[in-house]
Amino acid sequence: MSRTFWADPPWRGGRGPFRLGLAPVTESEWLPLPASPLECARKLDLLTHRRDEVLARVPTHRGAVDSVAGFVSERLTARGWSSSTVDSDPLAAVALQVPDDLCVMVATAEGWVLAGACLCSPSFWRLADKIGRPLEQIHAPVKGLDAALGDRMARFLDGLPVDRVFQRANWNVHRDPERFHPVPEQWDRLLVPSDCPSLHIRSERQTLRRIDASCILFTIDVRQFPLAELAAETGARDDLEAALRGMTPDERASFGYARHGAALLEWLQTLPRD
Ligand code: HEM
Repeated sequence: MSRTFWADPPWRGGRGPFRLGLAPVTESEWLPLPASPLECARKLDLLTHRRDEVLARVPTHRGAVDSVAGFVSERLTARGWSSSTVDSDPLAAVALQVPDDLCVMVATAEGWVLAGACLCSPSFWRLADKIGRPLEQIHAPVKGLDAALGDRMARFLDGLPVDRVFQRANWNVHRDPERFHPVPEQWDRLLVPSDCPSLHIRSERQTLRRIDASCILFTIDVRQFPLAELAAETGARDDLEAALRGMTPDERASFGYARHGAALLEWLQTLPRD
């Protein structure tokens, strides 16, 4: 997995974080893996002890959310996957079968609204803050994102054909490999280059699939890779350096560049060159 990631990282070609970066994937690349027993147990624990934080739905969209869960369940059953873990909520029940988080978007007069979600690996956001909100409001804390991509995101979602699946990936740098991160990590000081080898790249593989005229399923799978592995990945390293240098002020703010950007650049310079 690591090798595949470094060969084609989301910053490949020195690209910054504010980009659609959508590419089509096949049916078997959509929710490609069953949840490991460990991941299933972790999700079950959250669903048992912190249910309101990881599972939410808008009551008026209950039918839509259940029908998306039914669609996913049928597809997983057709692959011969079964679950020994049960949950009374249909979306939670299918989310327990895969490592991914599942977010159901419904078309409304306000735009695409987050109608229901089972979110056990959030990267710095709380489900309660986003449930029932249209995408523009969901993205509102990310300064400059709507101006940069809002129209293109809306056009993509509106025009997404049924049964075509697209993926994209984001990325950031984390101190710990914890999957459940509803609030930003606390950094008590600016990073220095010697901190970098112990950091992780956190990258979400996201997919978008239209289920019917008014529903889209957004899936999120968090992958983490030790930054130290970059020492052996010259292409990924050079492209990361270019991406860090090329970030716009809004991209820098979203990435947290002020906290760790300069240290990362300095550390990248210390890695052996061919
Ligand atoms: C074409 C589709 C989309 C694109 C291109 C996109 C892009 C982005 C980007 C660039 C960010 C900034 C942080 C990062 O680099 O990840 C972001 C943040 C975020 N996105 Fe999206 N996104 C898309 C769809 C969605 C959907 C369908 C959801 C529904 C749940 C969503 C939820 C979020 C949330 C919760 C954040 C964090 C917001 C915060 O910091 O409060 N995105 N997105």
